[in-house]
Amino acid sequence: MEFMSAREAADKWGISQRRVAVLCSEQRIAEATMVGNMWIIPTSAEKPIDARRTRYSKIEEKAVKPFLKWVGGKGQLIKEIERYYPFDSGRITKYAEPFVGGGAVLFDILSKYDLEEVYISDINAELINTYHIIRDDIDALIKTLYTMQNDFIPLNTDERKIYYMQTRERFNDLKVNGNENINIEKAALMIFLNKTCFNGLFRVNKKGLFNVPMGAYKNPMICDENNLRAVSEKLQRVTIVCGDYRESADFIDENTFVYFDPPYRPITDTASFTAYTENLFNDEEQIELAHFVDDMHRKGAKVVISNSDPKNSNTDDDFFDNIYSAHKIKRVEATRMINCNSEARGKIKELLISNF
Ligand SMILES: C[S@@+](CC[C@H](N)C(=O)[O-])C[C@H]1O[C@@H](n2cnc3c(N)ncnc32)[C@H](O)[C@@H]1O
Repeated sequence: MEFMSAREAADKWGISQRRVAVLCSEQRIAEATMVGNMWIIPTSAEKPIDARRTRYSKIEEKAVKPFLKWVGGKGQLIKEIERYYPFDSGRITKYAEPFVGGGAVLFDILSKYDLEEVYISDINAELINTYHIIRDDIDALIKTLYTMQNDFIPLNTDERKIYYMQTRERFNDLKVNGNENINIEKAALMIFLNKTCFNGLFRVNKKGLFNVPMGAYKNPMICDENNLRAVSEKLQRVTIVCGDYRESADFIDENTFVYFDPPYRPITDTASFTAYTENLFNDEEQIELAHFVDDMHRKGAKVVISNSDPKNSNTDDDFFDNIYSAHKIKRVEATRMINCNSEARGKIKELLISNF
């Protein structure tokens, strides 16, 4: 049998010598042998298929869906947003979603692609605790949720209201005074409240206390075990960060697709869509985010940003057209609440901004 050196294989296959050495050590080249400190490779060896490419090709698996209903959730825009997914190119192997919320896009991507690295963050500590617990303590979480479901479902409406209020108080107590040991309980309470409260809202008062009243669901699915377990599996390799979106800068590079879904700029003066947490996201912060997006663009990342279109209420309002003037802006149709009255739903335009 004739052999060639790693250098010769690298030239023949158009890849680096270092990559050839890695492929040899991963035993991906039949009969490659280490002689001294050098690899020798049969001249008849075929160039291995790039496994890095197959790792982020589309996968056929059961889809996972968001485990919480979340204000500003992007479920209905997935069809538009997925048009931007750049993973089939083979170059983009990483995904970052720094304002993850309920993660509609995250779970769509995790259902379709097996990526090398995924990074998510949110400033809402209770939300991020829930992601952590689903990833790391799924059995204990499911047990606690079943207990709550079995306690709650048989109650009549008045009894349910009492149970709900007690749960809300316990959650707020843990939110303010909690410690790490009761994080499983806090995650279970978060899911319970989300499944039983009015409209799945997460709204807090000035003191940071969750204050949404109970919703009117006959049979809420409090413990969706199958989906929670599937989500847990998908999150195993995901980096989950509680903090500001800017912390994602260290993760994002030229191989990353980033989806930014910041709190909306309100469409009307009365629509308080930004009250997800104690922090508001005003125009100044939207502008800072646009600068951050420019920095990530310069790094070579592929970026998509969504927001409400101010032209829905004022056709002269060019706020986003101005701050994202260097990028492409697409207006797509969505249905959502257009003021505080939850009945007032209508067709409006949302913005999808991209740098590619
Ligand atoms: C529009 S929601 C995201 C919704 C998400 N795309 C979904 O499908 O559910 C915006 C999220 O940004 C988070 N957030 C607000 N300010 C932030 C900041 N400075 N850094 C990171 N996350 C922030 C909020 O807690 C909220 O979950």
